[in-house]
Amino acid sequence: MDEVRTLYPDAYKICQQFEIDQHKMEEIILRMTREISMGLAKDTHSRATIKCFVTYVQDLPTGRERGRYLALDLGGTNFRVLLVTLESESTVNIDGKTYGISKELMEGSGVKLFDFIAQCLSDFCKDHKLENANLSLGFTFSFPCKQLGIDNGTLVAWTKGFKADGVVNKNVVELLREAITRRGDLKVQVVAILNDTTGTLMSCAFTRQNCKIGMIVGTGSNACYVEKTSNVEMFPGYQNSPKPHMIINCEWGAFGDNGVLDFVRTRYDVEVDSHSMNPKKQIYEKCISGMYMGELVRYILVELMDRDVIFKGVKSQTLQQRGKFDTRFITEIESDEPGKFRNAAMVMDNLGIRTSNEKDLMCLRYICETISTRSAKLAACGLVCLIRKMNVKDLAVGIDGSVYRFHPHYHRLLMQNMNLLLNGTVRFELVLSEDGSGRGAALIAAVCAKD
Ligand code: BGC
Repeated sequence: MDEVRTLYPDAYKICQQFEIDQHKMEEIILRMTREISMGLAKDTHSRATIKCFVTYVQDLPTGRERGRYLALDLGGTNFRVLLVTLESESTVNIDGKTYGISKELMEGSGVKLFDFIAQCLSDFCKDHKLENANLSLGFTFSFPCKQLGIDNGTLVAWTKGFKADGVVNKNVVELLREAITRRGDLKVQVVAILNDTTGTLMSCAFTRQNCKIGMIVGTGSNACYVEKTSNVEMFPGYQNSPKPHMIINCEWGAFGDNGVLDFVRTRYDVEVDSHSMNPKKQIYEKCISGMYMGELVRYILVELMDRDVIFKGVKSQTLQQRGKFDTRFITEIESDEPGKFRNAAMVMDNLGIRTSNEKDLMCLRYICETISTRSAKLAACGLVCLIRKMNVKDLAVGIDGSVYRFHPHYHRLLMQNMNLLLNGTVRFELVLSEDGSGRGAALIAAVCAKD
């Protein structure tokens, strides 16, 4: 860092703008706590940025759920169909197939998108000789949905680059059922819709009874947690529910949409937001998640190259183009051993910048570290906010998503910042939740089947 400061003062100054100290972190937690309380309460829900959607999932798995279930997982760059067999607490078999979702499908007509989903499901079932099986299906649909029941979810807005028309304000379970009926070649029952965070929490809770939060840091970011039913005013039966808990899908990505995070945002964040598909929306998510981290690095690099302070004399057409610095590159660059720049050189080479100037590559790594550190600090604020809100002293947090899964230091950064904020008052464990979207969907389908 000192070397960057002396050799690349411009880069250092830019990166300083992304610094969030403990005082600011506490302020973020305070503001987030307010938004969550507003999201939960009837009178303020419509004004809240963190909507705290009711999931209608009130039972955590016991670890004794068994059976065969289908799961659909839509929410990132891929779509998956899964056959999940819960055999024992330690054996869950997942057989699945991944299908790419083209830009045309993401941005075209909603009917086509759901027809494609139903077609993949039908192909998968035929391959597995399941056309006539009466299986229950859990639909992991990882976008903000207002739920009216476990099998009823209305899409509030698309996020993460999707914008298929005719889906917003519709019950997506109905859209899926209609697409299945149009085909007429399947017997499956769509029994539940869930968010990937809920799936992640359920999947982690299957083996750990003290799991109380599910978080995703992948293409997007979000978390869900276990709330007391009596606090969930948006749930019609909140005052006299026989079940004490309700999982709340926070949809924390929208935190900051009313300006409350502007005190930590930079002009690079503003730039990334203004060129995104959903300007002024999902502000917290845009500071944290994989869809935007690479783009932030790219903006900083382009500016430094324009000022001729890094990669001097080299011009890269590729780097000038939006979206060309993949967040995966950050993971690769930060995976280099200290003092070595093999991956960094390779990444830049692929972007048309052939350099062996290690100082430049060191500066590049510093920029990547700045963006991933800020992401982890903000996510840590979110987790600490939920932990304090629940007032628990011992818990596990189930986490999934490409950034958490693949970034070499993300886990450590989260731990470090949570330890700083919680200061030994809470025992917590951050657990990689294996395939929450698939397993979680099966578990919810299984829990539904019990009722
Ligand atoms: C969506 C959430 C989802 C998160 C992680 C966000 O963009 O709004 O529903 O949980 O991404 O996939």
